[in-house]
Amino acid sequence: MWYFTITTTTLWSPLVLLLLLWSPPPSSASTFNHGETVKNLIRNLNLFPPHDINILANPNVVPTDKNNKIVEKPLRFPNFSGEGEGISLDDLAHRAGYYPLQHSHAAKMFYLFFESRINKKDPVVIWLTGGPGCSSELAVFYENGPFKIANNMSLVWNEFGWDKVSNLLYVDQPTGTGFSYSTDTRDIRHDEDGVSNDLYDFLQAFFAEHPEYAENDFFITGESYAGHYIPAFAARVHKGNKAKEGIHINLKGFAIGNGLTDPAIQYKAYSDYALDMGIIKQADYDRINKVMLPACELAIKLCGTDGKIACTTSYFVCNTIFNSIMSHAGDINYYDIRKKCEGSLCYDFSNMEKFLNQGSVRDALGVGDIDFVSCSSTVYQAMLVDWMRNLEVGIPALLEDGINMLIYAGEYDLICNWLGNSRWVHAMEWSGQNEFVASSEVPFTVDDSEAGLLKNYGPLSFLKVHDAGHMVPMDQPKASLEMLKRWTQGTLSRSGDDAEVLVAEL
Ligand SMILES: *[C@@H]1O[C@H](CO)[C@@H](O)[C@H](O)[C@H]1NC(C)=O
Ligand SMILES: *[C@@H]1O[C@H](CO)[C@@H](O)[C@H](O)[C@H]1NC(C)=O
Repeated sequence: MWYFTITTTTLWSPLVLLLLLWSPPPSSASTFNHGETVKNLIRNLNLFPPHDINILANPNVVPTDKNNKIVEKPLRFPNFSGEGEGISLDDLAHRAGYYPLQHSHAAKMFYLFFESRINKKDPVVIWLTGGPGCSSELAVFYENGPFKIANNMSLVWNEFGWDKVSNLLYVDQPTGTGFSYSTDTRDIRHDEDGVSNDLYDFLQAFFAEHPEYAENDFFITGESYAGHYIPAFAARVHKGNKAKEGIHINLKGFAIGNGLTDPAIQYKAYSDYALDMGIIKQADYDRINKVMLPACELAIKLCGTDGKIACTTSYFVCNTIFNSIMSHAGDINYYDIRKKCEGSLCYDFSNMEKFLNQGSVRDALGVGDIDFVSCSSTVYQAMLVDWMRNLEVGIPALLEDGINMLIYAGEYDLICNWLGNSRWVHAMEWSGQNEFVASSEVPFTVDDSEAGLLKNYGPLSFLKVHDAGHMVPMDQPKASLEMLKRWTQGTLSRSGDDAEVLVAEL
Protein backbone atom coordinates (compact mmCIF):
# COMPACT_ATOMS: atom_id res chain seq x y z
CA MET A 1 0.00 0.00 0.00
CA TRP A 2 1.33 3.41 -0.86
CA TYR A 3 0.18 6.73 -2.14
CA PHE A 4 1.06 9.46 -4.50
CA THR A 5 0.54 13.16 -4.49
CA ILE A 6 -2.41 13.95 -6.68
CA THR A 7 -1.65 17.60 -7.22
CA THR A 8 -2.83 19.68 -10.13
CA THR A 9 -1.25 18.29 -13.22
CA THR A 10 1.41 20.61 -14.46
CA LEU A 11 2.85 20.29 -17.87
CA TRP A 12 6.51 20.89 -17.17
CA SER A 13 8.23 22.90 -19.84
CA PRO A 14 11.88 22.00 -20.32
CA LEU A 15 12.85 25.32 -18.77
CA VAL A 16 10.82 24.75 -15.62
CA LEU A 17 12.32 21.32 -15.45
CA LEU A 18 15.84 22.55 -15.58
CA LEU A 19 15.06 24.92 -12.76
CA LEU A 20 13.50 22.15 -10.78
CA LEU A 21 16.33 19.72 -11.27
CA TRP A 22 18.89 22.14 -10.00
CA SER A 23 16.83 23.93 -7.43
CA PRO A 24 16.95 23.21 -3.70
CA PRO A 25 14.28 20.93 -2.23
CA PRO A 26 10.73 22.24 -2.06
CA SER A 27 10.13 25.18 0.25
CA SER A 28 8.48 24.52 3.59
CA ALA A 29 5.24 25.90 2.19
CA SER A 30 5.06 23.33 -0.57
CA THR A 31 6.20 20.60 1.82
CA PHE A 32 3.25 21.50 4.02
CA ASN A 33 0.84 21.22 1.10
CA HIS A 34 2.42 17.96 0.16
CA GLY A 35 1.83 16.69 3.70
CA GLU A 36 -1.85 17.61 3.46
CA THR A 37 -2.09 15.70 0.19
CA VAL A 38 -0.50 12.64 1.73
CA LYS A 39 -3.01 12.79 4.59
CA ASN A 40 -5.86 12.92 2.08
CA LEU A 41 -4.50 9.82 0.47
CA ILE A 42 -4.49 8.04 3.81
CA ARG A 43 -8.14 9.10 4.18
CA ASN A 44 -8.86 7.44 0.83
CA LEU A 45 -8.30 4.20 2.74
CA ASN A 46 -10.77 5.41 5.40
CA LEU A 47 -7.95 5.66 7.91
CA PHE A 48 -7.68 8.50 10.43
CA PRO A 49 -4.54 8.02 12.51
CA PRO A 50 -4.56 10.29 15.59
CA HIS A 51 -0.98 11.48 14.96
CA ASP A 52 1.28 11.95 11.93
CA ILE A 53 3.89 9.79 13.59
CA ASN A 54 4.53 8.07 16.93
CA ILE A 55 7.28 10.32 18.26
CA LEU A 56 6.22 11.00 21.83
CA ALA A 57 7.74 12.88 24.75
CA ASN A 58 6.54 10.64 27.58
CA PRO A 59 5.07 7.42 26.31
CA ASN A 60 3.42 5.19 28.85
CA VAL A 61 4.15 1.62 27.81
CA VAL A 62 5.27 -1.64 29.29
CA PRO A 63 8.87 -0.98 30.37
CA THR A 64 11.46 -2.39 28.03
CA ASP A 65 14.62 -4.22 28.84
CA LYS A 66 17.85 -2.34 29.61
CA ASN A 67 19.98 -4.79 27.64
CA ASN A 68 18.29 -4.16 24.32
CA LYS A 69 16.44 -7.41 24.53
CA ILE A 70 13.02 -8.08 23.22
CA VAL A 71 10.13 -7.71 25.64
CA GLU A 72 7.43 -10.05 24.52
CA LYS A 73 4.13 -11.40 25.77
CA PRO A 74 1.78 -14.16 24.78
CA LEU A 75 -1.00 -12.69 22.67
CA ARG A 76 -4.65 -13.67 23.08
CA PHE A 77 -7.13 -11.37 21.43
CA PRO A 78 -10.25 -10.82 23.54
CA ASN A 79 -13.37 -12.77 22.57
CA PHE A 80 -11.50 -14.92 20.08
CA SER A 81 -11.79 -18.54 21.07
CA GLY A 82 -10.02 -19.81 17.98
CA GLU A 83 -12.65 -22.45 17.43
CA GLY A 84 -13.41 -23.80 14.02
CA GLU A 85 -10.01 -24.64 12.60
CA GLY A 86 -9.46 -27.93 14.38
CA ILE A 87 -6.61 -26.50 16.43
CA SER A 88 -6.46 -25.03 19.89
CA LEU A 89 -5.02 -21.57 20.51
CA ASP A 90 -3.32 -23.12 23.55
CA ASP A 91 -1.07 -25.09 21.22
CA LEU A 92 -0.04 -22.00 19.26
CA ALA A 93 2.53 -19.38 20.15
CA HIS A 94 1.03 -16.00 19.25
CA ARG A 95 3.12 -13.14 20.57
CA ALA A 96 3.33 -9.36 20.60
CA GLY A 97 6.41 -7.45 21.62
CA TYR A 98 8.67 -4.48 21.51
CA TYR A 99 12.33 -4.45 20.58
CA PRO A 100 14.49 -1.47 21.63
CA LEU A 101 16.34 -0.83 18.39
CA GLN A 102 20.02 -1.17 19.09
CA HIS A 103 21.27 1.48 16.70
CA SER A 104 18.72 4.12 17.58
CA HIS A 105 18.44 6.79 20.23
CA ALA A 106 15.19 5.60 21.77
CA ALA A 107 13.20 3.66 19.18
CA LYS A 108 11.05 0.64 20.00
CA MET A 109 9.93 -1.62 17.20
CA PHE A 110 6.56 -3.33 17.60
CA TYR A 111 6.06 -6.79 16.16
CA LEU A 112 3.61 -9.67 16.05
CA PHE A 113 4.50 -13.32 15.76
CA PHE A 114 2.12 -16.11 14.77
CA GLU A 115 3.37 -19.64 14.97
CA SER A 116 2.48 -21.94 12.10
CA ARG A 117 -0.91 -23.57 12.50
CA ILE A 118 0.53 -26.74 10.98
CA ASN A 119 4.18 -27.26 11.87
CA LYS A 120 6.75 -25.38 13.96
CA LYS A 121 9.42 -26.46 11.49
CA ASP A 122 7.80 -24.44 8.71
CA PRO A 123 9.94 -21.55 7.48
CA VAL A 124 9.96 -18.24 9.30
CA VAL A 125 8.46 -15.60 7.00
CA ILE A 126 8.59 -11.90 7.73
CA TRP A 127 6.13 -9.56 5.99
CA LEU A 128 6.72 -5.85 5.36
CA THR A 129 3.90 -3.52 4.31
CA GLY A 130 4.85 -0.50 2.22
CA GLY A 131 3.68 3.08 2.26
CA PRO A 132 6.33 4.06 3.08
CA GLY A 133 4.89 4.45 6.54
CA CYS A 134 1.95 2.03 6.67
CA SER A 135 1.59 -0.50 9.46
CA SER A 136 1.97 -4.18 8.70
CA GLU A 137 -1.27 -4.75 10.63
CA LEU A 138 -2.98 -3.85 7.35
CA ALA A 139 -1.68 -7.15 6.02
CA VAL A 140 -2.45 -9.02 9.24
CA PHE A 141 -6.16 -8.20 9.05
CA TYR A 142 -6.80 -7.65 5.32
CA GLU A 143 -4.28 -9.82 3.51
CA ASN A 144 -2.38 -12.82 4.80
CA GLY A 145 -2.68 -12.82 8.60
CA PRO A 146 -4.20 -15.61 10.68
CA PHE A 147 -7.52 -13.81 11.11
CA LYS A 148 -9.86 -11.21 9.73
CA ILE A 149 -12.04 -8.69 11.53
CA ALA A 150 -15.75 -9.39 11.17
CA ASN A 151 -18.14 -6.43 11.01
CA ASN A 152 -19.16 -7.01 14.63
CA MET A 153 -15.48 -6.55 15.59
CA SER A 154 -14.87 -10.18 16.44
CA LEU A 155 -12.01 -12.08 14.84
CA VAL A 156 -12.50 -15.04 12.55
CA TRP A 157 -9.79 -17.36 11.24
CA ASN A 158 -8.47 -16.57 7.77
CA GLU A 159 -8.74 -19.84 5.92
CA PHE A 160 -5.79 -18.79 3.77
CA GLY A 161 -3.57 -17.15 6.37
CA TRP A 162 0.11 -17.52 5.57
CA ASP A 163 0.56 -19.02 9.05
CA LYS A 164 -0.74 -22.23 7.45
CA VAL A 165 2.65 -22.74 5.83
CA SER A 166 4.98 -20.53 7.85
CA ASN A 167 5.85 -19.03 11.20
CA LEU A 168 4.80 -15.47 10.46
CA LEU A 169 6.35 -12.24 11.66
CA TYR A 170 4.98 -8.73 11.11
CA VAL A 171 6.83 -5.57 12.11
CA ASP A 172 5.71 -1.96 12.23
CA GLN A 173 8.47 0.01 10.53
CA PRO A 174 10.12 2.43 9.83
CA THR A 175 10.03 3.88 13.36
CA GLY A 176 6.92 5.93 14.07
CA THR A 177 4.56 3.66 12.13
CA GLY A 178 1.83 1.48 13.64
CA PHE A 179 2.62 0.87 17.32
CA SER A 180 6.37 1.44 16.87
CA TYR A 181 7.54 4.64 18.51
CA SER A 182 10.43 6.71 19.75
CA THR A 183 10.98 9.68 22.03
CA ASP A 184 13.64 11.09 19.73
CA THR A 185 13.03 12.60 16.29
CA ARG A 186 16.53 11.57 15.25
CA ASP A 187 15.17 8.02 14.98
CA ILE A 188 13.10 8.90 11.91
CA ARG A 189 14.58 6.96 8.99
CA HIS A 190 15.37 8.46 5.59
CA ASP A 191 16.97 5.64 3.65
CA GLU A 192 17.43 1.92 3.20
CA ASP A 193 20.58 1.81 5.31
CA GLY A 194 18.61 2.97 8.31
CA VAL A 195 15.68 0.70 7.52
CA SER A 196 17.70 -2.44 6.82
CA ASN A 197 19.99 -2.07 9.84
CA ASP A 198 16.97 -1.74 12.12
CA LEU A 199 15.34 -4.81 10.60
CA TYR A 200 18.56 -6.78 10.89
CA ASP A 201 18.99 -5.81 14.55
CA PHE A 202 15.41 -6.85 15.19
CA LEU A 203 15.94 -10.26 13.57
CA GLN A 204 19.05 -10.85 15.65
CA ALA A 205 17.11 -10.07 18.82
CA PHE A 206 14.16 -12.19 17.72
CA PHE A 207 16.26 -15.28 17.01
CA ALA A 208 18.23 -14.75 20.23
CA GLU A 209 14.91 -14.86 22.07
CA HIS A 210 13.63 -17.79 19.99
CA PRO A 211 16.56 -20.05 19.13
CA GLU A 212 14.00 -22.79 18.39
CA TYR A 213 13.24 -21.04 15.07
CA ALA A 214 16.77 -19.99 14.12
CA GLU A 215 17.47 -23.20 12.19
CA ASN A 216 14.33 -22.91 10.10
CA ASP A 217 14.47 -21.57 6.58
CA PHE A 218 13.92 -17.83 6.52
CA PHE A 219 12.14 -15.75 3.86
CA ILE A 220 11.49 -12.03 3.51
CA THR A 221 8.20 -10.97 1.90
CA GLY A 222 6.23 -7.78 1.39
CA GLU A 223 4.52 -5.44 -0.97
CA SER A 224 4.63 -2.09 -2.70
CA TYR A 225 7.24 0.21 -1.16
CA ALA A 226 8.72 -2.93 0.40
CA GLY A 227 10.14 -3.35 -3.12
CA HIS A 228 12.70 -0.91 -1.72
CA TYR A 229 12.99 -2.34 1.79
CA ILE A 230 13.30 -5.98 0.81
CA PRO A 231 16.39 -6.00 -1.47
CA ALA A 232 18.21 -3.83 1.08
CA PHE A 233 17.12 -6.02 4.01
CA ALA A 234 18.04 -9.25 2.20
CA ALA A 235 21.47 -7.81 1.33
CA ARG A 236 21.94 -6.75 4.97
CA VAL A 237 21.13 -10.25 6.24
CA HIS A 238 23.41 -11.84 3.66
CA LYS A 239 26.24 -9.48 4.58
CA GLY A 240 25.79 -10.31 8.28
CA ASN A 241 25.86 -14.03 7.52
CA LYS A 242 29.01 -13.75 5.42
CA ALA A 243 30.78 -11.68 8.09
CA LYS A 244 29.61 -14.14 10.80
CA GLU A 245 27.97 -11.27 12.63
CA GLY A 246 25.69 -12.50 15.37
CA ILE A 247 23.31 -15.37 14.78
CA HIS A 248 23.37 -16.96 11.31
CA ILE A 249 20.05 -16.29 9.61
CA ASN A 250 18.99 -19.04 7.27
CA LEU A 251 17.98 -16.68 4.43
CA LYS A 252 16.61 -18.72 1.54
CA GLY A 253 14.76 -16.11 -0.44
CA PHE A 254 12.82 -12.90 -0.72
CA ALA A 255 9.54 -12.11 -2.47
CA ILE A 256 8.15 -8.75 -3.55
CA GLY A 257 4.52 -8.21 -4.54
CA ASN A 258 3.67 -5.24 -6.80
CA GLY A 259 6.79 -3.46 -5.69
CA LEU A 260 8.74 -0.34 -6.51
CA THR A 261 12.28 -1.59 -7.02
CA ASP A 262 13.75 -0.08 -10.20
CA PRO A 263 12.02 3.30 -10.56
CA ALA A 264 13.43 4.16 -14.01
CA ILE A 265 11.79 1.09 -15.52
CA GLN A 266 8.68 1.21 -13.36
CA TYR A 267 7.90 4.84 -14.21
CA LYS A 268 8.46 4.27 -17.91
CA ALA A 269 5.88 1.48 -17.77
CA TYR A 270 3.07 3.74 -16.51
CA SER A 271 2.03 5.13 -19.85
CA ASP A 272 2.43 1.78 -21.64
CA TYR A 273 0.30 -0.01 -19.06
CA ALA A 274 -2.30 2.78 -19.00
CA LEU A 275 -2.57 2.75 -22.80
CA ASP A 276 -2.78 -1.07 -22.95
CA MET A 277 -5.55 -1.06 -20.37
CA GLY A 278 -7.51 1.72 -22.04
CA ILE A 279 -7.02 4.21 -19.21
CA ILE A 280 -5.48 6.85 -21.46
CA LYS A 281 -5.75 7.63 -25.17
CA GLN A 282 -2.96 7.59 -27.72
CA ALA A 283 -2.72 11.40 -27.70
CA ASP A 284 -2.26 11.45 -23.89
CA TYR A 285 0.30 8.70 -24.23
CA ASP A 286 2.26 10.61 -26.85
CA ARG A 287 2.25 13.78 -24.78
CA ILE A 288 3.40 12.00 -21.59
CA ASN A 289 6.15 10.15 -23.42
CA LYS A 290 7.35 13.18 -25.30
CA VAL A 291 7.43 15.69 -22.45
CA MET A 292 7.22 14.11 -19.03
CA LEU A 293 9.03 10.84 -19.50
CA PRO A 294 12.36 12.26 -20.76
CA ALA A 295 12.42 14.69 -17.85
CA CYS A 296 11.69 11.89 -15.42
CA GLU A 297 14.36 9.66 -16.91
CA LEU A 298 16.96 12.38 -16.63
CA ALA A 299 15.91 13.15 -13.06
CA ILE A 300 16.17 9.48 -12.06
CA LYS A 301 19.59 9.21 -13.68
CA LEU A 302 20.78 12.15 -11.59
CA CYS A 303 19.39 10.43 -8.50
CA GLY A 304 21.11 7.09 -9.16
CA THR A 305 21.50 4.83 -6.16
CA ASP A 306 22.51 7.36 -3.54
CA GLY A 307 21.62 10.86 -4.67
CA LYS A 308 20.06 13.28 -2.24
CA ILE A 309 18.39 16.49 -3.48
CA ALA A 310 18.33 15.02 -6.99
CA CYS A 311 16.32 12.06 -5.68
CA THR A 312 13.72 14.17 -3.91
CA THR A 313 13.45 16.32 -7.02
CA SER A 314 12.97 13.30 -9.25
CA TYR A 315 10.07 12.17 -7.05
CA PHE A 316 8.22 15.38 -7.88
CA VAL A 317 9.26 15.38 -11.54
CA CYS A 318 8.31 11.75 -12.19
CA ASN A 319 5.03 11.77 -10.35
CA THR A 320 3.71 14.25 -12.90
CA ILE A 321 3.42 11.15 -15.10
CA PHE A 322 1.21 9.36 -12.63
CA ASN A 323 -0.79 12.50 -11.87
CA SER A 324 -1.36 13.09 -15.56
CA ILE A 325 -2.62 9.53 -16.07
CA MET A 326 -4.94 9.85 -13.08
CA SER A 327 -6.34 13.13 -14.39
CA HIS A 328 -7.58 11.16 -17.42
CA ALA A 329 -8.63 8.11 -15.46
CA GLY A 330 -11.46 9.64 -13.48
CA ASP A 331 -12.25 7.88 -10.23
CA ILE A 332 -10.63 4.53 -10.95
CA ASN A 333 -8.93 2.85 -8.02
CA TYR A 334 -5.25 2.98 -8.92
CA TYR A 335 -4.60 -0.10 -6.79
CA ASP A 336 -7.12 -2.04 -8.86
CA ILE A 337 -8.24 -0.53 -12.13
CA ARG A 338 -11.31 -2.77 -12.28
CA LYS A 339 -12.69 -0.79 -9.33
CA LYS A 340 -13.71 2.77 -8.62
CA CYS A 341 -12.95 4.88 -5.60
CA GLU A 342 -16.43 5.41 -4.16
CA GLY A 343 -16.90 8.90 -2.76
CA SER A 344 -13.48 9.64 -1.38
CA LEU A 345 -12.84 5.99 -0.49
CA CYS A 346 -10.68 3.63 -2.49
CA TYR A 347 -10.74 1.01 0.25
CA ASP A 348 -12.28 0.90 3.70
CA PHE A 349 -9.77 -0.37 6.25
CA SER A 350 -11.43 1.47 9.14
CA ASN A 351 -12.32 -1.71 11.05
CA MET A 352 -8.62 -2.22 11.71
CA GLU A 353 -8.35 1.12 13.52
CA LYS A 354 -11.62 0.49 15.37
CA PHE A 355 -10.45 -2.95 16.43
CA LEU A 356 -6.95 -1.92 17.48
CA ASN A 357 -8.20 1.07 19.47
CA GLN A 358 -10.32 -1.03 21.82
CA GLY A 359 -8.96 -1.03 25.37
CA SER A 360 -9.12 -4.80 25.70
CA VAL A 361 -7.25 -5.30 22.44
CA ARG A 362 -4.60 -2.74 23.39
CA ASP A 363 -4.13 -4.53 26.74
CA ALA A 364 -3.72 -7.81 24.90
CA LEU A 365 -1.06 -6.23 22.67
CA GLY A 366 0.80 -4.61 25.57
CA VAL A 367 1.02 -1.24 23.85
CA GLY A 368 0.15 0.91 26.87
CA ASP A 369 -0.88 4.40 25.78
CA ILE A 370 0.71 4.22 22.34
CA ASP A 371 -1.83 5.20 19.70
CA PHE A 372 -2.07 3.19 16.54
CA VAL A 373 -0.71 5.13 13.54
CA SER A 374 -2.11 3.10 10.65
CA CYS A 375 -0.16 5.11 8.07
CA SER A 376 2.32 7.83 8.97
CA SER A 377 2.45 10.82 6.66
CA THR A 378 5.63 11.99 8.38
CA VAL A 379 7.39 8.68 7.77
CA TYR A 380 6.24 8.82 4.16
CA GLN A 381 7.71 12.27 3.66
CA ALA A 382 10.91 11.40 5.48
CA MET A 383 11.49 8.66 2.91
CA LEU A 384 10.96 10.83 -0.19
CA VAL A 385 14.70 11.06 -0.74
CA ASP A 386 14.82 7.25 -0.93
CA TRP A 387 11.89 6.83 -3.33
CA MET A 388 13.59 7.10 -6.71
CA ARG A 389 16.78 5.26 -5.82
CA ASN A 390 17.35 2.06 -7.73
CA LEU A 391 17.28 -0.99 -5.45
CA GLU A 392 17.73 -3.51 -8.26
CA VAL A 393 21.50 -3.05 -8.21
CA GLY A 394 22.11 -5.22 -5.13
CA ILE A 395 19.98 -8.14 -6.30
CA PRO A 396 22.27 -9.98 -8.79
CA ALA A 397 24.87 -10.65 -6.06
CA LEU A 398 22.17 -12.32 -3.96
CA LEU A 399 21.00 -14.48 -6.87
CA GLU A 400 24.60 -15.53 -7.62
CA ASP A 401 24.88 -16.74 -4.04
CA GLY A 402 21.81 -18.93 -4.51
CA ILE A 403 19.26 -16.78 -2.68
CA ASN A 404 15.88 -17.06 -4.38
CA MET A 405 13.82 -14.13 -5.54
CA LEU A 406 10.14 -14.18 -6.43
CA ILE A 407 8.59 -11.11 -7.99
CA TYR A 408 4.81 -11.42 -8.18
CA ALA A 409 2.25 -8.90 -9.33
CA GLY A 410 -1.52 -8.64 -9.48
CA GLU A 411 -2.35 -7.79 -13.10
CA TYR A 412 -4.87 -4.98 -12.42
CA ASP A 413 -2.67 -2.77 -10.25
CA LEU A 414 -1.70 0.50 -11.90
CA ILE A 415 0.51 2.02 -9.22
CA CYS A 416 3.19 -0.69 -9.23
CA ASN A 417 2.00 -2.46 -12.34
CA TRP A 418 3.10 -5.93 -13.41
CA LEU A 419 4.49 -4.61 -16.72
CA GLY A 420 7.15 -2.52 -14.99
CA ASN A 421 7.88 -5.36 -12.54
CA SER A 422 8.29 -7.82 -15.41
CA ARG A 423 10.50 -5.48 -17.41
CA TRP A 424 13.06 -4.84 -14.70
CA VAL A 425 13.20 -8.52 -13.82
CA HIS A 426 13.93 -9.33 -17.48
CA ALA A 427 16.42 -6.47 -17.85
CA MET A 428 18.42 -7.41 -14.75
CA GLU A 429 21.94 -8.58 -15.59
CA TRP A 430 23.04 -11.76 -13.85
CA SER A 431 24.54 -15.08 -14.91
CA GLY A 432 21.15 -16.64 -15.63
CA GLN A 433 19.64 -13.67 -17.46
CA ASN A 434 19.63 -15.23 -20.95
CA GLU A 435 18.13 -18.47 -19.71
CA PHE A 436 15.49 -16.64 -17.69
CA VAL A 437 14.52 -14.44 -20.63
CA ALA A 438 14.36 -17.48 -22.95
CA SER A 439 12.36 -19.65 -20.57
CA SER A 440 8.71 -20.03 -21.44
CA GLU A 441 5.75 -18.81 -19.47
CA VAL A 442 3.81 -21.62 -17.82
CA PRO A 443 0.42 -21.54 -16.14
CA PHE A 444 0.36 -21.31 -12.36
CA THR A 445 -2.49 -23.65 -11.61
CA VAL A 446 -4.59 -23.70 -8.47
CA ASP A 447 -7.64 -25.97 -8.24
CA ASP A 448 -7.32 -26.92 -11.89
CA SER A 449 -7.59 -23.36 -13.09
CA GLU A 450 -4.98 -20.90 -14.21
CA ALA A 451 -4.34 -18.46 -11.35
CA GLY A 452 -1.39 -16.79 -13.01
CA LEU A 453 1.52 -17.05 -15.42
CA LEU A 454 4.93 -18.08 -14.17
CA LYS A 455 8.43 -17.68 -15.50
CA ASN A 456 11.36 -19.27 -13.73
CA TYR A 457 15.02 -19.97 -14.11
CA GLY A 458 17.27 -21.04 -11.25
CA PRO A 459 16.74 -18.78 -8.24
CA LEU A 460 14.56 -16.27 -10.13
CA SER A 461 10.78 -16.49 -10.50
CA PHE A 462 8.26 -14.03 -11.87
CA LEU A 463 4.54 -14.56 -11.39
CA LYS A 464 1.78 -12.48 -12.94
CA VAL A 465 -1.31 -13.10 -10.82
CA HIS A 466 -4.72 -13.08 -12.49
CA ASP A 467 -7.78 -11.28 -11.14
CA ALA A 468 -5.80 -9.34 -8.57
CA GLY A 469 -4.84 -5.73 -7.92
CA HIS A 470 -2.12 -4.24 -5.74
CA MET A 471 -2.90 -6.41 -2.72
CA VAL A 472 -2.63 -9.95 -4.06
CA PRO A 473 -3.22 -11.84 -0.79
CA MET A 474 -6.44 -9.82 -0.27
CA ASP A 475 -7.74 -10.38 -3.80
CA GLN A 476 -6.54 -13.96 -4.35
CA PRO A 477 -6.05 -15.42 -0.87
CA LYS A 478 -5.96 -19.06 -1.91
CA ALA A 479 -3.63 -18.54 -4.87
CA SER A 480 -1.32 -16.39 -2.77
CA LEU A 481 -1.08 -19.05 -0.07
CA GLU A 482 -0.34 -21.68 -2.74
CA MET A 483 2.29 -19.39 -4.19
CA LEU A 484 4.03 -18.99 -0.83
CA LYS A 485 3.79 -22.69 -0.08
CA ARG A 486 5.23 -23.86 -3.41
CA TRP A 487 7.88 -21.15 -3.51
CA THR A 488 9.18 -21.78 0.02
CA GLN A 489 9.08 -25.54 -0.58
CA GLY A 490 10.93 -25.22 -3.88
CA THR A 491 8.11 -26.57 -6.03
CA LEU A 492 6.81 -23.37 -7.62
CA SER A 493 8.55 -24.03 -10.93
CA ARG A 494 6.95 -27.45 -11.06
CA SER A 495 3.77 -25.48 -11.32
CA GLY A 496 0.33 -26.95 -11.55
CA ASP A 497 -1.20 -30.03 -10.10
CA ASP A 498 1.97 -32.14 -10.15
CA ALA A 499 3.27 -29.80 -7.51
CA GLU A 500 0.07 -30.22 -5.52
CA VAL A 501 0.54 -33.97 -5.50
CA LEU A 502 4.18 -33.63 -4.61
CA VAL A 503 3.49 -31.31 -1.72
CA ALA A 504 0.76 -33.60 -0.48
CA GLU A 505 3.25 -36.47 -0.49
CA LEU A 506 5.86 -34.57 1.54
C1 LIG B 1 -16.02 -8.98 24.19
O1 LIG B 1 -17.26 -9.47 24.66
C2 LIG B 1 -17.80 -8.67 25.68
C3 LIG B 1 -19.04 -9.40 26.20
O2 LIG B 1 -19.83 -9.90 25.15
C4 LIG B 1 -18.13 -7.30 25.11
O3 LIG B 1 -18.69 -6.46 26.10
C5 LIG B 1 -16.86 -6.68 24.59
O4 LIG B 1 -17.12 -5.46 23.94
C6 LIG B 1 -16.17 -7.61 23.61
N1 LIG B 1 -14.86 -7.08 23.31
C7 LIG B 1 -14.35 -7.04 22.10
C8 LIG B 1 -12.98 -6.52 21.98
O5 LIG B 1 -14.95 -7.44 21.11
C1 LIG C 1 -19.67 -11.89 14.69
O1 LIG C 1 -19.57 -12.20 13.31
C2 LIG C 1 -18.98 -13.44 13.06
C3 LIG C 1 -18.77 -13.57 11.57
O2 LIG C 1 -19.86 -13.13 10.84
C4 LIG C 1 -19.88 -14.54 13.62
O3 LIG C 1 -19.32 -15.81 13.36
C5 LIG C 1 -20.01 -14.34 15.11
O4 LIG C 1 -20.90 -15.27 15.65
C6 LIG C 1 -20.49 -12.92 15.44
N1 LIG C 1 -20.38 -12.73 16.87
C7 LIG C 1 -21.30 -12.12 17.59
C8 LIG C 1 -21.02 -11.99 19.05
O5 LIG C 1 -22.32 -11.69 17.10
